[in-house]
Amino acid sequence: MHSKRTLIVANWKMNMTVGQSSQLAANMHKTISGHRDIEVVIAPSFLSLQPLSLEIDRRRFRLASQNGHEIDEGGYTGEVSFAMMRDLVHYSIIGHSSRRIYFAETNKQIRDKVAACIRNGISPILCIGETAAEKAEGHTRQVVHDQLTVALSNVTPEDLHNVVIAYEPVWAITTFGGKTSNPEDIKKMFSYIRAQLTDLYGEKAAGRVRLLYGGSADNTNAGGYLALEDCDGLLVGSASLNYHKFAGIVDIAYKINRSRSDD
Ligand code: PGA
Repeated sequence: MHSKRTLIVANWKMNMTVGQSSQLAANMHKTISGHRDIEVVIAPSFLSLQPLSLEIDRRRFRLASQNGHEIDEGGYTGEVSFAMMRDLVHYSIIGHSSRRIYFAETNKQIRDKVAACIRNGISPILCIGETAAEKAEGHTRQVVHDQLTVALSNVTPEDLHNVVIAYEPVWAITTFGGKTSNPEDIKKMFSYIRAQLTDLYGEKAAGRVRLLYGGSADNTNAGGYLALEDCDGLLVGSASLNYHKFAGIVDIAYKINRSRSDD
């Protein structure tokens, strides 16, 4: 049986005004019922975090930021630090492929962001995954290994359970091509990632880390990923902007959990 809470994250990316975000959250309240074993997280723009924090039912939804600056305060015009988000968010999405590709974030910078999250009581959702070119060259495992080991290099075994890992093959993300991935291949990558975590932290600590899949996940394919033994949830982009689709995903997660506990 799955003892970890399933995590379903809505990454709204750079979409919607504050008003539109509130409207979408209100519609999510109407369509998504609360389940004890499922954690639903909304990652809106920075602007919407504060208003949404007052509007959402915190027993049903938690908030995440999509980024943050690794230094707590100082002369970094235009940046928002994790220290500023301390009481506002439970999670922060770190090292998303949009950040790596469009904003040239390096593994070392991502390592510092992971550490800054933990220092400020925020759980990082660390995104890793290979590009289409890296896959074509047969470098998938090496890339994922490097992303993982560098990003976690300042995370102590005591802090590891606060880290969530999202495996998102870049080529499967809507923005970067949105090719359909095969759950069987994802399963192999999950085992590989879990094995890397075990090498670094031992089996017990590695087993407690939640592993998410991301890349064009929606209400038609979510079941294929969530049914994987090692899959603890989903990071959802496009489909999270449609509350019917997103509610469908949460529903599927609930049904899969229920069938597991009946076994
Ligand atoms: P997608 O985005 O579901 O639109 O592919 C996922 C992500 O970028 O986290």
